[in-house]
Amino acid sequence: MTYSVDEKTTRRPIAGRAVVLVPMTPADVPEFYRMATQSDSAPYWYGELYGDTAPTYDDFQIEYPAHYFDASAPRKGRCFFIAVGTRRIGTVAYNEIDERDGSTELDIIIACDTDTGRGYGPDALETLTGFLFDCMSVRRCFIVPIASNLRAIRAYEKAGFRRVKKFSEGGRKYTYYQRTNPAADAPPRTTEETP
Ligand SMILES: CC(C)(COP(=O)(O)OP(=O)(O)OC[C@H]1O[C@@H](n2cnc3c(N)ncnc32)[C@H](O)[C@@H]1OP(=O)(O)O)[C@@H](O)C(=O)NCCC(=O)NCCS
Repeated sequence: MTYSVDEKTTRRPIAGRAVVLVPMTPADVPEFYRMATQSDSAPYWYGELYGDTAPTYDDFQIEYPAHYFDASAPRKGRCFFIAVGTRRIGTVAYNEIDERDGSTELDIIIACDTDTGRGYGPDALETLTGFLFDCMSVRRCFIVPIASNLRAIRAYEKAGFRRVKKFSEGGRKYTYYQRTNPAADAPPRTTEETP
């Protein structure tokens, strides 16, 4: 599937192999909040693993302001549901694109244990990175799991992410994974070279 680069792109569903990424709307924030804070997978986003607690709904809205849901500023970040058929099984998001190096950080959660381990996470990440590379001129997507989250690390490697570094922060170990746009460093094609 190809898209033109314009601000409407983040309003359209993006088809992957088995999943479809459905752009969230402002009405979807409560469902996103439930998946992030009250699902089987919530302990991998907040809580003991990170030494914090799940945010209140008000704080969650500060973490994810309106532009993540209304396509008003596509380069500042956007949230999508991961859908399989008519079911919304999780969420994937990109955050503000750093215009200095064309990078953006991704977040992902598949809410129910019964939907994990089926390849949906890697499918969603490959689909989102492909969209960001092809339509948003992103050069590099990265994701920073806690080092003990071996399931996430395996899924990111399956989605073409490669480990760049390990580091510690706040007494916790993290691993930095990235996937780079293979076309990003290609020289611009001149009209003379166009077949
Ligand atoms: C991380 C996540 C997005 C991955 O998506 P997924 O659809 O479950 O990914 P996959 O289908 O590839 O399954 C996970 C893979 O990890 C493997 N795996 C599971 N537990 C593992 C473990 N403890 N050690 C190593 N590998 C493990 C599975 O066997 C599978 O690999 P395989 O297909 O080679 O057998 C999803 O599991 C999830 O939402 N988890 C909770 C939230 C989370 O961790 N978010 C990321 C925060 S950085």
